[in-house]
Amino acid sequence: MCGIVGYTGSSPALLVLLQGLERLEYRGYDSAGVALVEKGELYVDKKVGKIRELVRSLWGKDLKATAGIGHTRWATHGEVCELNAHPHTDGSSEFAVVHNGIVENYRELKEELEKLGIAYRSQTDTEAIVHLVALNYEGDLLKAVLKTLEKLTGAYAFAVISAKEPGRIVAVRYGSPLVVGIGKGENFIASDIPALLPFTRDVIPLKDGEVVDLRPDGVFIYDFKGNLLTKDVMHVPWDIISAEKGGFKHFMLKEIFEQPRTLSDTIRGYISRDLSLPFSLKDFRRVLVVACGTSYHAGLVGKYWIEKYAGVPVEVAYASEVRYSDMQVGEEDLVLAISQSGETADTRFSVLALKEKGSTLLSLVNVMGSALDRESDYTLYTHAGPEIGVAATKTFTAQLAVLYALAVNHTEDRQVKMENLLRVPHLVEEYLSNSEAVRELAIRYADRRDFLYIGRYLSYPVALEGALKLKEISYIHAEGYPAGEMKHGPIALIEEKTPTIAIAPKDRVYEKMLSNIEEVLARKGKVIGVGFEGDENLKKLCTNLIEIPPIEEDLTPFLTTIPLQLFAYYIADYLGLDVDQPRNLAKTVTVE
Ligand code: F6R
Repeated sequence: MCGIVGYTGSSPALLVLLQGLERLEYRGYDSAGVALVEKGELYVDKKVGKIRELVRSLWGKDLKATAGIGHTRWATHGEVCELNAHPHTDGSSEFAVVHNGIVENYRELKEELEKLGIAYRSQTDTEAIVHLVALNYEGDLLKAVLKTLEKLTGAYAFAVISAKEPGRIVAVRYGSPLVVGIGKGENFIASDIPALLPFTRDVIPLKDGEVVDLRPDGVFIYDFKGNLLTKDVMHVPWDIISAEKGGFKHFMLKEIFEQPRTLSDTIRGYISRDLSLPFSLKDFRRVLVVACGTSYHAGLVGKYWIEKYAGVPVEVAYASEVRYSDMQVGEEDLVLAISQSGETADTRFSVLALKEKGSTLLSLVNVMGSALDRESDYTLYTHAGPEIGVAATKTFTAQLAVLYALAVNHTEDRQVKMENLLRVPHLVEEYLSNSEAVRELAIRYADRRDFLYIGRYLSYPVALEGALKLKEISYIHAEGYPAGEMKHGPIALIEEKTPTIAIAPKDRVYEKMLSNIEEVLARKGKVIGVGFEGDENLKKLCTNLIEIPPIEEDLTPFLTTIPLQLFAYYIADYLGLDVDQPRNLAKTVTVE
């Protein structure tokens, strides 16, 4: 979590840092700050709140520094306040550090440093880094950082500047993402590629255990022992336009409406060839899907498809639960990690532990060059482009598309199934161009404090995902539940003011869903149905019906998901909430 940016060159660094920070704000927005080497001295400014508060504070200041570092924070250690905001400086204000991740042994380090008479100013784990660098400094920032690394444990990325060496930034990656951007006479670092796109598309994603010494005219990458490494520069295929709002009020809305294209790009990526995997799912005793949040929900849908078409048992587990469990895995198991960012700490570290036990690691990620991409035996990509809204939307449906392609990969009529899948983007487009009704419905229900989302079979994970979207951006309590389980407890929650969203496409459990809807109605509950156009049974039964184009059973999750994304979006927007950056959240969760 948190976003780091750094610049060294000949232009005013501040402008580059602020632009970069704006693009990283999705990673955390509790506070923001910059440190520059201005006229031989460190200049630090930091403010609680979003980047705009920092911009306000810096407004009109004529800062000419051509090197600096910046940070946007998602608090882990220490409350949200200016003292805990980054950058942090040493006692003599000669060194500044920005940090993402966690220094796990910070308590011991603090004790050691305090014994040496070093006074702490913040409650953060980060402050240890800057004091150690200052303590280890003997005229060479790189050497001071390398020596500091010997003392740190945890997972982190950080960047340091020093007033003693203007124009030099030393940055480290160990468990949290960091990318180097290569320019002409200027170079950059950032936590994520989109922050670099206004300046360069030539990047080097650092690996864990690498340190970069960044200067205006050179980039030198070392391992933690100080050995110089040779690295390839990667050219990023996205352009900046694809990371802009394109006339939409929020990134989330833009990303929802992008789905016909992102689905078609993803499906086309796999349609004319098989998945280029040197194995079949059938070669394994079991597929173990490991993921968090929305990616976990995609995994639940994938389970049904893989079990149906590949005939292999599939287990789906929350990464945070796997990590400290005694899960039995071995060579006979395929671990499938699903992660939009490819950087989620829970997912990465749990699947790496499973890989250690001998299983094969296949990842499904949206970000090429991300940690998971590099750490896996094999990777499949969703071609959804950068997703900026904190709530995952287009990457969820793109994950579904790849999971479907994976499930049918070795079926005899694979090609027919994939051609059929290509109908999905058109149907999603058809629905989106006619989706005004869901906005009106959302406004009508925006005053409710609790919602239930129910579904069965493929619609059960969709119910979970719909509920997650609503709670994370509108702060309304929502629970996703398997419809058949309602009678075993949650049905007690039903009352007039708690609407139930029932996902009921015409599939194998349709009749069962109708009965579950009746059960809710019998308790005076209001039901918003999501079903096929022209479904008169549902229309009669439900208080309101969201109609989607009819589609075969297998592919229903693609269509049922979209109105639920819109429903959550329109409620949050109507309530005037910060849709793209909901409170307490961050897009990429690189802490445990
Ligand atoms: C919800 C959401 C999160 C992520 C989760 C995993 O809208 O975005 O629940 O799905 O944090 O992130 P990735 O997929 O990057 O591993």
